[in-house]
Amino acid sequence: MPTVYLNGAFLPLEDACVPVTDRGFLFGDGVYEVIPAYGGRLFRLPHHLQRLQNSLDGIRLGNPLDDEEWASMLKALLERNRAPDQDDGDQAIYLQVTRGSADKRDHRFPEQVTPTVYVASNPIPAPDPAIIANGITAVTLDDIRWQRCDIKAITLLANVLLRQQAIDMGATEAIMIRDGYAIEGSASNIFMVYDGVLTTPPKSAQLLPGVTRDLVLELAEQHRLPYREANISSAALASADEVWVTSSTREIVPITRLDDRPVGDGKPGPLWRVMIEHYRAYKAAVRAGTAA
Ligand code: PDD
Repeated sequence: MPTVYLNGAFLPLEDACVPVTDRGFLFGDGVYEVIPAYGGRLFRLPHHLQRLQNSLDGIRLGNPLDDEEWASMLKALLERNRAPDQDDGDQAIYLQVTRGSADKRDHRFPEQVTPTVYVASNPIPAPDPAIIANGITAVTLDDIRWQRCDIKAITLLANVLLRQQAIDMGATEAIMIRDGYAIEGSASNIFMVYDGVLTTPPKSAQLLPGVTRDLVLELAEQHRLPYREANISSAALASADEVWVTSSTREIVPITRLDDRPVGDGKPGPLWRVMIEHYRAYKAAVRAGTAA
C-alpha cells in the first residue's frame, strides 16, 4: 500500500480521505503538478514549483508551503515509497492543491478556508519499446478548452473528453487545434520538424508551459540544433517531417501517424533520435546528481 501525503500527514493511501464538500470535488477548484524523480532525485523541481506558484496565482490561492517545505516533504514521500529491492526506482509525484472545504456550496471564494494539499508518488513505467520503435498515432481535434490553459488546473474535463475521443478513433493522443493552429496535446506539448528546423508554439494563455518543452528547447540550444518558437498551422503540421509530443511522464514521443496519414516516412525521425539521446543523457545526469 503506497503512502500519500494529505494536509500535513503521511498515511496509507486507503486512509486518505477528503470531505465531499472539498471545492476540488465540487468545482474542480484547484491546481496540480506532475514531477518525475529519477533515483530519488526530483527532476527540475524549481521549474515545477515556479509553475505551481504561477497556477496558484492564476486562481488567487495562497501557496500553503514554501519551496523548502515542498522539497523536503516530496523527498520524504519518495523515500517512503521506495521499493526496498530497488534503490534507483523512478517515481512520478502527483501533487494537488484545492481551495479546501467550506460548509456551504457557493461559487464565490469562501472567507476562511484551509487549502487541501494531497500528494502521491507512483512508479514510472519504463519507456514502452513499441513506442520507441514505432511512435504513436494522433488525431487533430478542436480545442474546446477555456482561455487560461497556462494554469495547470485540475479541471480537466475537456482534456479527458478529447483524449477519449482520440482513443475511440483508434489513436493515442489528441492534438488540439484552435483557430487553425496546433496548440498542444491533451496532456502534452507539441513540436514539429520541417526542413531540419524544430518548431513549437510560443508560450501563451492557450497552452501549458511544459517543463519538458522548456528542457527540449534548452537542449536544442546547447547542442546547436536549429529551433524556433512559432505558431504551427494545421497545414504546416500536416506536411511536417516529424511531429513529437512531450510531457514529464512520457518524455519525448514521436507521432508517426497523424489523421490517418504517415508523418514523414511513418517512422520515428532522425531529429527525434538525436533529441531523445540528449534527453536521456540529461536524465542520467539527474540520477547521478550532476545535472545543472
Ligand atoms: N500533463 N500540456 C498539457 C495540457 C499537459 O497536461 C501536460 C502535462 C503538458 C506537458 O507538461 P510537462 O512537460 O511539464 O509535463 C502540456 C501531465 C503530465 C498530466 O496531466 O499528467
